[in-house]
Amino acid sequence: MAIAVFASGNGSNFQALVESSRRENWPLPISLLICDRPGAKVLDRARACEVEAICVNPKAFPDKKAYEESVLAHLRQRKIEWIVLAGYMRLIGPTLLQAFPKRIVNIHPSLLPAFPGLNAIEKAFSYPVKVSGVTVHYVDEGIDTGPILAQQPVAIEEGDTLESFERKIHLAEHQLYPRVIQALIDGGKKS
Ligand code: GRF
Repeated sequence: MAIAVFASGNGSNFQALVESSRRENWPLPISLLICDRPGAKVLDRARACEVEAICVNPKAFPDKKAYEESVLAHLRQRKIEWIVLAGYMRLIGPTLLQAFPKRIVNIHPSLLPAFPGLNAIEKAFSYPVKVSGVTVHYVDEGIDTGPILAQQPVAIEEGDTLESFERKIHLAEHQLYPRVIQALIDGGKKS
């Protein structure tokens, strides 16, 4: 039994999750990274922290179903129980949703339902709102629409630039996401 993280890019949340899981001795290890983009920085991070990484390139498959079936085979081989999305730039399709009911979680850099989809940090900053934040939610077939598990507000303060606001959002993500995932898997163990 273990957790897989799915990521496409930088991987700072992946790293925060792995570090937290080791520091706090989570009951389920993060034992696999699934990445859909060859050359993504998250692959280097996985190597550095010695987590197995598999890059499954969707372009190598005729359609989304075939791509997800291949991913699913990797997950099954490794007895993965939870899928944690961390900057995975792809909608999860029926194949994975049906295989992992209420077992796929995502983090989004806004207070949903405000600013779903791409570029949420920039959209909140340029709106401009006074408070945005981060949301952890279950994944369903929509774009950032699944039931909300936790939220953390982040204020846009006088003098903030997009860059400083972005840094605050990522810091909030790195604090909130590991806490929520740990609570979920602890809860899952007890039920
Ligand atoms: C995060 O802002 C996350 O909320 C969003 O994608 C970004 C990934 O950042 N879904 P990183 O790759 O974890 O650094």
